[in-house]
Amino acid sequence: MSETAETHQTGFNTRAVHAGQEFEPRTGAVVPPLHFSSTYAQDGIGGLRSGYEYGRGGNPTRDALQEQLAALEGGRHAFSFGSGLAAEDGLIRAVCSPGDRIVLGNDAYGGTYRLINRVLGPWGIQNTPIDMSALDGVRSAVSAEGKDRARLVWVETPSNPLMKITDIAALAEIAHDAGALLVVDNTFASPYLQNPLALGADVVVHSTTKYIGGHSDVVGGALVVNDGELAEKIGFVQFAVGAVSGPMDAFLTTRGLKTLGVRMERHSDNAQKIAEWLVGRPGIENVLYPGLPDHPGHELAAKQMRRFGGMISVQFTGGEAAARKVAESTELFTLAESLGGIESLMNYPSEMTHASVKGTELAVPENLIRLSVGIEDAEDLIADLDQAISRL
Ligand SMILES: Cc1ncc(COP(=O)(O)O)c(C=O)c1O
Repeated sequence: MSETAETHQTGFNTRAVHAGQEFEPRTGAVVPPLHFSSTYAQDGIGGLRSGYEYGRGGNPTRDALQEQLAALEGGRHAFSFGSGLAAEDGLIRAVCSPGDRIVLGNDAYGGTYRLINRVLGPWGIQNTPIDMSALDGVRSAVSAEGKDRARLVWVETPSNPLMKITDIAALAEIAHDAGALLVVDNTFASPYLQNPLALGADVVVHSTTKYIGGHSDVVGGALVVNDGELAEKIGFVQFAVGAVSGPMDAFLTTRGLKTLGVRMERHSDNAQKIAEWLVGRPGIENVLYPGLPDHPGHELAAKQMRRFGGMISVQFTGGEAAARKVAESTELFTLAESLGGIESLMNYPSEMTHASVKGTELAVPENLIRLSVGIEDAEDLIADLDQAISRL
């Protein structure tokens, strides 16, 4: 848990490089050391040095990451977990009780829905999946008479993989009117492109596995909040349940996070070029990218995001067969789960990332592929897509 009010004055990239990254006082090592120790010597019983007692409760490398995350999301408190889903689970345990309801986007990440529905459902947590971009529907779902109270409103924007954009400020108002908290999964945008707390959200969730880590070499998750009471509850669950990130993972995540701004600019440049190239090509039914002027969320995205990001979804007129063929025909785009790394990845959500929601109301169209556009040369990525699509 970290307090970072003083770092909020500087620019994003300055905070990315410096927040939580003070040099080591004994040697002057510019990169703070990686602390592997699981326990800390006490100067007499209870005589803790800087509050460190045991690795599950606190670790300087994890603290450095938490400070950096808080500074970049513009929050007062950040918590680093072993994965994005561990962070989500920690949050729900911290704030929900049996009988509480979570109103969530009907195109939420499949693993989020699986956690809420199949793991937490049997413990008494209810859920209502809904189209978050239709605000009237959200208002009535959140305040639905006769149902148990909505404790959390949970949204991804841009959503995964349909790239829907939801008005965070409007949703915060709807949630707060009903006495619920607004949770924004900011994984797709990253803190460089969007800061939900500044728009009224109560909690930001990240799979730091994605853009924050940025190099597809570490799994992690985070929660960022402003409210002190909420932070106390999350901190207690993080400590008592123990799904913390390990020191090596925290170190790698911090290293990746230092270059987030530079990477997101490049991801956004490349994705914009690729999306524009894809539009209108034979065999393509729809290109879902908020940077395209005719995307239904384009204006809203321009308002609440700094740029449009590196994720594109594409639907094919040739249906499932065409989507599968393209997914299996690229060379630079690697067919793999996950997103947000410097290398371009191709995903067939219906059978891969969102396989767990197949056959439910959260199922993803079978003619859709999802691209995580990396930082390679855009011309090479376009040439790769061209050769794959021309096989249709
Ligand atoms: C939007 C989103 N949220 C949460 C998660 C879960 O994160 P993790 O895989 O780090 O547990 C993912 C993973 O793909 C994701 O895409």
